[in-house]
Amino acid sequence: MTPSVDEAGRALADPTAYADDDRLHAALAVLRREAPVHWVEAPDYNPFWAVTRHADIMEIERDHRLFLNAPRPLLATAEMDAINRQRAEQGIGLRTLVHIDDPDHRVLRAIGADWFRPRAMRALEPRVRELARRYVDRMVELGGECDFVQQVAVHYPLYVILSLLGLPESDFDRMLKLTQELFGNADPDLQRGASPEEGLAVLLDFFAYFKELTEARRANPTDDLASAIANARVDGEPLNDFDTASYYVIIATAGHDTTSSTISGGLRALIEHPDQLDRLRADRDLMPLAVEEMIRWVTPVKEFMRTAAEDCEVGGVRVRAGEALLLSYPSANRDEEIFDDPFRFDVGRDPNKHLAFGFGVHYCLGAALARMEVRAFFDELIPRLTSIELAGEPENVVTTFVGGPKHLPIRYKLT
Ligand code: HEM
Repeated sequence: MTPSVDEAGRALADPTAYADDDRLHAALAVLRREAPVHWVEAPDYNPFWAVTRHADIMEIERDHRLFLNAPRPLLATAEMDAINRQRAEQGIGLRTLVHIDDPDHRVLRAIGADWFRPRAMRALEPRVRELARRYVDRMVELGGECDFVQQVAVHYPLYVILSLLGLPESDFDRMLKLTQELFGNADPDLQRGASPEEGLAVLLDFFAYFKELTEARRANPTDDLASAIANARVDGEPLNDFDTASYYVIIATAGHDTTSSTISGGLRALIEHPDQLDRLRADRDLMPLAVEEMIRWVTPVKEFMRTAAEDCEVGGVRVRAGEALLLSYPSANRDEEIFDDPFRFDVGRDPNKHLAFGFGVHYCLGAALARMEVRAFFDELIPRLTSIELAGEPENVVTTFVGGPKHLPIRYKLT
């Protein structure tokens, strides 16, 4: 049944809606058509404007002086908004790149930016390809049937990130668990607990782990990204513990579930569209376009938010200073105004102006790395794949932030 505009708006603040693609996209289609800048009042959440058209989201992202990331960069419950504000005032909150604005944002972003430039990515490529091979080999070892998300996809990008940061493989399990607890905190299967105290405990575990890392890299600098962060100077001063820990947290978390969700959601799309899989098998030059289409199709980051610094207008709607706007990336990436037949999964889609990586000064720092990882995986998998099918019902993560498949049971033959 088609939801009303108000029901559709409230779906954007309902973590279970994001686990149900049909329900989510039915709601987003109503909003795009009938109320593309819509005021949402949902139980447990502070109200916000839901912005669902590609053009309006671009306009907001382009104007980073008018639309600020602080103090509400992400959708959280009203209770968590209050706690986050309090922690920020006490100087114990997360202060990652997505939490801050200029001038601090520009300075902090520059510290990591060199590591993600194409030249650095090319240097990392052999390692990424080796890891991709390792995980396709793992699929062979698993004997032709597996839960692709849990047994393959969540592991591979985390290894890439650990390599980038220069962390030992022995820390893998700890990082995997902490990342899932931080991001999957609306999903009962992934969360440590639903309370703010348990959420804080996850954050403090992250901070404790990274404080040790900072101390180790300050004592013995190496040439990894962790050393660059630990030894960075701003106005001649090292970053404080919260800023260094926040930096590691954003790299470790932003670079992990996003990419694994894209790989597993992309694989699911290929299984469900066998004609597209055949096309890709027959013409491997389509791979770069196929990767973009998988990223558009899955859109693992469901939203970021901005707060208006002044009274303004968005899409013809009056927005007042201090009001928050939710940028719905899954909606932008199915916008009929931009994409020809947006609900068609097309491995040759070109142009493909998706907003899955955002836009403007906060544009995803790891976009080149994410593309390389997804591509390396499918470059390795596709030529070795003789057959593949679903072996059960896939299930998605319950979240309002980063999500995609949680379980993807598959049966396959690989050479
Ligand atoms: C920011 C998406 C992978 C690091 C973002 C943003 C989005 C996004 C939507 C916010 C952009 C905005 O506000 O305009 C994705 C997707 C990925 C992915 C879809 C995978 C397919 C990665 C990877 C890394 C990474 C692999 C690094 C290892 C970051 C960082 C930011 C960011 C550091 C903050 C940038 C800033 O605020 O200046 N990402 N990301 N991401 N991403 Fe990614």
